Amino acid sequence: MKVLLFGGRGFMGQQFLQIYPDAVVPSADIADPAAVAGVLDREKPDVVINAAGKTGTPNVDWCEDHKLETMHANVLGPIVLAEECGKRGIYWVHLSSGCIYEGDNGGRGFAETDETNFTGSFYSRSKALCERAIREFPGILILRLRMPFDGSSHPKNLITKLAKYARVNDEENSITCLTDFLEATKKLIERRATGIYNMVNEGTISPYRIMELYQEIVDPSHSFEHLPLPAQSQVTKVGRSNCILATGKLKGEGIQMRPIEDAVKSALLEFKKSSSAK
Ligand SMILES: NC(=O)c1ccc[n+]([C@@H]2O[C@H](COP(=O)([O-])OP(=O)(O)OC[C@H]3O[C@@H](n4cnc5c(N)ncnc54)[C@H](OP(=O)(O)O)[C@@H]3O)[C@@H](O)[C@H]2O)c1
Repeated sequence: MKVLLFGGRGFMGQQFLQIYPDAVVPSADIADPAAVAGVLDREKPDVVINAAGKTGTPNVDWCEDHKLETMHANVLGPIVLAEECGKRGIYWVHLSSGCIYEGDNGGRGFAETDETNFTGSFYSRSKALCERAIREFPGILILRLRMPFDGSSHPKNLITKLAKYARVNDEENSITCLTDFLEATKKLIERRATGIYNMVNEGTISPYRIMELYQEIVDPSHSFEHLPLPAQSQVTKVGRSNCILATGKLKGEGIQMRPIEDAVKSALLEFKKSSSAK
């Protein structure tokens, strides 16, 4: 299977290279139709993965001041891919985000069919707008992940991020273990699944609980405090989504990601091992 991976040099792109080490990684701008058409016609891939996009550096606050760049990569680019892959009948995979919802949907969690309800940041609005634009076309697998984590020291790993904060909130959230995500995604791609999938672990956890476990497993001297939700606006430029996603659709495929505490604990053990080896 020949895989073409856009955004292969980024955080998520590097994850995909772990499961598809032979993937071709072009440097084309995904929002440039001629460049995308050229790559598709030259490489003739079986599967295209779009891990390109703007998430902002150091965080999504960046997108507030770079709306054109964000729109170009997160909305225009995927629309170009939908057109160019669609014309050629090429199956493709898009990385979306679960940060397009707020709340727990009355305890049920948000399903793939629920309309989005979080509009607090331009980043989230760009991701929701993109989903709306491409979801009606056939041949596209849309994966929603949230606050991805693993046992690495990568600055985009949720655990690395939380460990740097003096205060963290105690809101229950659905989050994504990258190891489980990759395993589940590989299965979906093998089956050529299409449509939207919530790609989060079973159950919920809060950033505060993750840091309690960090203290227990990685560093007993680590100190942090509780950040009440209303005070979050003092430390971020724009709102952040806190939400719970339903996992029934993925389970209906016979695919299940581990219970979240188990996945966090094993990532923390790996994190401890790699940081003490340094
Ligand atoms: N990281 C997360 O927490 C998270 C969570 C949920 C969903 N996602 C989604 O996953 C995708 C990848 O995120 P990431 O965290 O891996 O971001 P990243 O580390 O910034 O990587 C994105 C990659 O895309 C490239 N890129 C940006 N605009 C492009 C364009 N117009 N054409 C081609 N390549 C372009 C970037 O290259 P340059 O650096 O040269 O711009 C970079 O190599 C995004 O769609 C994001 O919304 C990420």
